[in-house]
Amino acid sequence: MADEKPEPPAASAPKESLFVVVARSIRQSAIWKSIFRHGYQDTPRNRALMVLSNVFLHLHPVKVRPASLRYRYTWGLGGLSFYLFILLTVTGVFLMFYYRPTIEYAYWDMKDLRFVVPFGSFLRNIHRWAAHVMVLIVMFHMASVFYRSAYKPPREYNWVVGVILLLITFLLSFTGYLLPWDQLAIWAVTVGTNMAAATPLLGSDGPFALVGPDMDARFILLGSKIVGQSGLLRFYVLHCVFLPLIFLVFVSIHLWRVRKDEFSAIPLPPEEERRKGTLPEAWVKQHPEELQKKVFTWPALVSREFVGALVLTAILTFWSIKANAPLEELANPNKTPNPSKAPWYFVGLQELLVYFDPWVAGVVLPTVILFGLMAIPYIDINPTGIGYYNAKNRKFAVSMFTFGLVFWFVLIFIGYYMRGPGWEMYMPWQSWDAHRVSASTGLHNMPNWAGLALITFYGGLVMLLPKICFKDFYKSLGPVRYLVVMTLVLLMFFVPLKIVLRNFFSIKYIVSFPDFNLNL
Ligand code: HEM
Repeated sequence: MADEKPEPPAASAPKESLFVVVARSIRQSAIWKSIFRHGYQDTPRNRALMVLSNVFLHLHPVKVRPASLRYRYTWGLGGLSFYLFILLTVTGVFLMFYYRPTIEYAYWDMKDLRFVVPFGSFLRNIHRWAAHVMVLIVMFHMASVFYRSAYKPPREYNWVVGVILLLITFLLSFTGYLLPWDQLAIWAVTVGTNMAAATPLLGSDGPFALVGPDMDARFILLGSKIVGQSGLLRFYVLHCVFLPLIFLVFVSIHLWRVRKDEFSAIPLPPEEERRKGTLPEAWVKQHPEELQKKVFTWPALVSREFVGALVLTAILTFWSIKANAPLEELANPNKTPNPSKAPWYFVGLQELLVYFDPWVAGVVLPTVILFGLMAIPYIDINPTGIGYYNAKNRKFAVSMFTFGLVFWFVLIFIGYYMRGPGWEMYMPWQSWDAHRVSASTGLHNMPNWAGLALITFYGGLVMLLPKICFKDFYKSLGPVRYLVVMTLVLLMFFVPLKIVLRNFFSIKYIVSFPDFNLNL
């Protein structure tokens, strides 16, 4: 061992036990030394080597600033997202031993897992619950990164990689949803994939459709016009091979960039400075030595990550013992459940189908959300707040992001808990009535001239008012950034505007061109 020098036992030393002798000779053997290249004494050198000479721990920097160790800084959410991916891969591989992706066997393999395979039910439960938790934790990680401005230079690109990881996380979860081949699975996926058929140009039901139903985006996804055997196989391959591989590529880039760019956390000024209102970046400028103060990742950070993973595993274990993952009746393409709901994280989009045609709710809005998220680091040029929570000096950015996030969860809540048969609205405590008169009766379209005038007025107002009233805002952004920011704001607020028009003024479409499937 490099720095563990064995000393011959002194003549008067007590006799060593056989265990100690064997352990030492193993540690001094050529095989052991070829694998483990440093000792265990608590020395700065060993703390550094612990990270540097281990392929997994090597994902960390050797040293980090103490500020990044505060639980309240990251809440460990990035690390937990990665841990969940590993947990899902391991449990998923075990599930693959028992699961056959054919419509004859898939459902019955699920039943076997529940009733025949030892620990099969537990295995399936933990896989399912961990997938839900991962979607939630990745979203919270994104929010935490946003609120501490960790996407600002030099981490803009890593934020974009993060958005791609968020998308892959959704897709991993969505493709897994079909595999049990029960009623919940096929109808949730039918709702989701129908939206693909509404893609402009490439979807047979979308505006300006160039292709028929046997060649469009939904067909490519399902290998058929309906959710059937080829769809199941495609989702299985996407879920078990394709998407995890892509995820691995992007998560490697993501973690490598976190290492190269360092954690964003910067030291905070002492209490009295904070009371005076001194911003951390101003304080750090006066005390540059604070930025250099660092602690070894091993064990300070690694032990915290270990505790986080342990607590999460305990919660998931308890949850998986107490609650079974849902398994409804065998999939039946001829029996549509009413209501059929998409998986919870897509139910917000499904809720928007009440107000928009599928090409807007299912294709345009998700695309705008994704590109809007990716654009954030490039359009937010406010230099303050990097590495600490600071809403006071970023009022516009924080309020827009928070509005979008809260609105997304409100839509999910309404779709998941407040929609009953025929997608009618019910309070959570009301019972469902399949014969209720639909709230969509009595809706009317605005005349196109009035609709176009309204859109022009709304667009003009959102685009021009801030330019006129907040000249500094326009000047600081410049014309291109201003255009991108205000287009995103315009589109975001167009959604609640449309909801108000429909619910309070019974307006179905503001403008409508049925010949082109183009209605807004
Ligand atoms: C499954 C997906 C993801 C995994 C496994 C993951 C993992 C991590 C880890 C381990 C860290 C370092 C610790 C921390 O800050 O919590 C991190 C940091 C970061 N993540 Fe993620 N992340 C994921 C998704 C995302 C998403 C969706 C975004 C944003 C859209 C994002 C943006 C960032 C950024 C900018 C950092 C640097 C933060 C800093 O330096 O303080 N990540 N990520």
